[in-house]
Amino acid sequence: MVQALDADLPFYLRDLHAPVSEEVEAFDLPIEGSLPTELDGLFVRNGPNPVRGDPGHWFLGDGMLHGVELSGGCALGYRNRFVQTRALRGTARYLDEEGRVDFSAGLANTHVIEHAGHVLALVENGLPWEVDRRLETLGPHDFGGRLKGPMTAHPKICARTGEMHFFGYHFAPPHLVYHRVDRSGRLVESRPIEIPGPVMMHDFAITDAYVIFMDLPIVFAPGSIAGGGMPYRWSDEAGARLGFLRRGRNGADSEGEVVWLEIEPCYVFHVLNAYSVGQRITLDTARYEDLWREDPNRFEVARLHRYEIDLAEGAVHEEPLDDLPIEFPRVKEDLCGLRHRIGYAVWGPADTGSEGLVRYDLQTGAREIYDGRGRHVPSEAVFVPTDGDAPEEEGWLLCFEFDRARLRSDLSVFDATRIERGPVARVELPQRVPLGFHGSWLPRR
Ligand SMILES: [Fe+2]
Repeated sequence: MVQALDADLPFYLRDLHAPVSEEVEAFDLPIEGSLPTELDGLFVRNGPNPVRGDPGHWFLGDGMLHGVELSGGCALGYRNRFVQTRALRGTARYLDEEGRVDFSAGLANTHVIEHAGHVLALVENGLPWEVDRRLETLGPHDFGGRLKGPMTAHPKICARTGEMHFFGYHFAPPHLVYHRVDRSGRLVESRPIEIPGPVMMHDFAITDAYVIFMDLPIVFAPGSIAGGGMPYRWSDEAGARLGFLRRGRNGADSEGEVVWLEIEPCYVFHVLNAYSVGQRITLDTARYEDLWREDPNRFEVARLHRYEIDLAEGAVHEEPLDDLPIEFPRVKEDLCGLRHRIGYAVWGPADTGSEGLVRYDLQTGAREIYDGRGRHVPSEAVFVPTDGDAPEEEGWLLCFEFDRARLRSDLSVFDATRIERGPVARVELPQRVPLGFHGSWLPRR
C-alpha cells in the first residue's frame, strides 16, 4: 500500500514518491492484455529511495533499481534492488569535514544504461556503479582507473559510432570535463572545458559532428548546503549559453575550442535529441522558464522547446514547440545525435489531477496524448523498436505506471504509434514502484 500519507512530509517522501522498504522478487507475473512477443529483455529503471528518513531533497535518496524481464509474450519476473553503494551501507561520506570529495560515495540513483557490456547505475556527482542483469551490485566503475571525477547520469551513445560521450561537472575546478569512451568501453578522451563558474549541468547533447554543453544559471550556492539539501540556486547574473565542441573524426579527439553562444536564461534538465547538417544544429529540450529561485524543492513546469543554431553566423533561434507541461523526453535511442522526427514525454503536472504520455511528430506538428484519467500515473517511457530495421515510429513504449485504484504499479506497454488507445498490455507488479527517474531497455544478449 502507499506509505506515509502524512501531508507534512515533503512530496518526495509521500504518496506516489514514498520509498519502498523491501527488496522483492516475483515470477511469472499476471498480464492484462497481450505482451508483444518480440520484447525479449529487461526493462530497468532507477530512482531515489531513501533508507534513512529525509535526505533533504528529492535528488538525494539512495538508488533503487526496478527491473522486469520479458520474453515470448510472458513477463518472466520482477525484481527490485538497492544499488549497494558505500553511502547506502553507511561506510562512506561524499564530503568530509574538510570539503574533500569521495567520488565513489555517490548514490547512483538517477539512470541506468548499458554500454560495452557494462550495466551502469548513474548519478551526476559520482562514479557510475556497475550492476549485473539480476540488478546485483558489482562495484564502482572508473573505466580502469581513468575516470578521476564524476560522470553525468545522461551519457550519450552515438548511434553512428557506438562511442559513449559524457561529461562531469563539479563545484571545484575543473568545473566541467568532457569524456569519450570508445565502443569497446575504453575511456579514450578526457578534456577540461572552461566555464565561468560552477553550475548544475544535468544533461547535454551530441550530434554526429558536435558535442553541445548547456551552461545554465543554476549556480553552486555553498551557503545553502548547511543542514543537507541541494547546494544550487537560480542566478539572475549568471546568464545562459550553449557550447559547441567539434567531435573528432574516425575515433580521434575533439577538435578546436568550444564555441559559446548566448541564449535566453532558462533551465533544462533533459534534452530530447539534437542533430546537425553542416554547421546548422537543431536541439530539442524540455525547458523551464526559470527554476529554484527560492526553493530547490519547488519544481516549475517545462515545455518542449527547440533551438536552431547556425554556427557559421553565430546565431541562435529559439522557440517553444508546445504549451503542454512535459518532462522525461525520449527518442528512439538508435537516433541519438541523428535527425529525429518523433519524440515522447510524460505530461502533467500531477496537481492537475491527470497525467499521461505524449507523442510528438515534429515534422507535422501533430501531438497525440495518452491520458491516465487521474487513475494511471506513468513515469518515464522508454521506446523499444519492433526490430532493428523498423521505421522510426514503429515500436513500443514501456513505462511503470502507478494505479491509484489498486495502489500498485504495472509495467505498461504501449503501441508507440497509437498511445491514445492506452496500453496493449499491463504487467501487474507485486509492489508499488515509486515515481522515479530514468531507465533503459536491455535486449537479451
Ligand atoms: Fe535526468
